[in-house]
Amino acid sequence: MNARIIGTGSCMPEHVVTNDDLAKIVDTNDEWISSRTGIRKRCITDKDNTAGLSAKASKMALENAGIGAEEIDLIIVATLSPDYYVPSVSCMVQSEIGAVNAFCFDLNAACSGFLFALNTVNAYIKAGMIKNALIVGAEVLSKLVDWTDRGTCVLFGDGAGAAVVSASEEGGVCQTIVGAEGAKGMVLTCPGRSLDNMCAKEERQKGYISMDGQEVFKFAVKRVPQCICEVCEKANTPLEDVKYFILHQANERILFSVAKHLKIDNQKFPMDLHNYGNTSAASIPILLDEMNQKGELCRGDKIVLAGFGGGLTWGSALLEW
Ligand code: COA
Repeated sequence: MNARIIGTGSCMPEHVVTNDDLAKIVDTNDEWISSRTGIRKRCITDKDNTAGLSAKASKMALENAGIGAEEIDLIIVATLSPDYYVPSVSCMVQSEIGAVNAFCFDLNAACSGFLFALNTVNAYIKAGMIKNALIVGAEVLSKLVDWTDRGTCVLFGDGAGAAVVSASEEGGVCQTIVGAEGAKGMVLTCPGRSLDNMCAKEERQKGYISMDGQEVFKFAVKRVPQCICEVCEKANTPLEDVKYFILHQANERILFSVAKHLKIDNQKFPMDLHNYGNTSAASIPILLDEMNQKGELCRGDKIVLAGFGGGLTWGSALLEW
């Protein structure tokens, strides 16, 4: 049995923040942000937290798939910005949508999270352990961003995307790759609580995202083409047979660089980062849903998904839609 995406959904907060809006709170401007990143605006939530956005995207994905919440066996939410340490976002989603028969857990592989979730669900389906899964990439990064740091606050946005993945005799995931390089993890961090217990005392850290942008950039432009080539080679599929390369929406320059490296036309690398910024684990399922709703994905199309980010982590998947 193959793991096949049979429905998608997404939820973007209504409140839009433009580059000009950000120029009012930090020393930046539209020209700097759009020329270095391609980002023009992002959505920032003023109401729903991570679980709320996830549940709305999930309901849409279930409707699009045409199956009931009680038919879902497993829910995985990929996020680095959960609402609580416990309960998990996935348990909160289960409760909100009424997926009473599902077991649930969250997964943190930062911006590669959706690929890690797909890889995990693929394994469960191949093992015959489940039939239907709901995977969600969801972030409210606005609660982890230092709004006085122009180096990071211009990059990120909030949102959620979801996909229903079901066991299918044809099509679906052909091959997946996931990887990590923990030794380079400190180039993109967001500290949690410091060690401040009955045995040890550390100075309390601020829990904001911090990043060595150039190191992350170098990592992405090297690792992403590698993992795309690897997944296609493993599936015996030439790059030319792939209709779309749907990559994590971090930065336009990273995507163009990957396209150039692979000698593939930019047109095959769809983008929506201009409107949403970097939504980490949510960016791939949001873009997938946009394309699905517009009818741009046809049965039998070969599609590569690729994520990269904090950890450092990366992942790719080749699927037949
Ligand atoms: N507006 C205006 N100036 C800014 C700015 C902003 N928002 N952010 C930084 N600058 C300034 C810096 O202070 C620095 O000024 P200085 O030369 O006077 O010190 C200058 O711009 C260059 O900063 P630098 O950090 O070297 O810029 P860069 O060319 O590396 O671009 C990124 C920064 C973040 C856009 C780029 O490194 C990048 O895209 N990295 C990948 C990040 C990413 O995608 N991460 C997520 C991956 S999942």
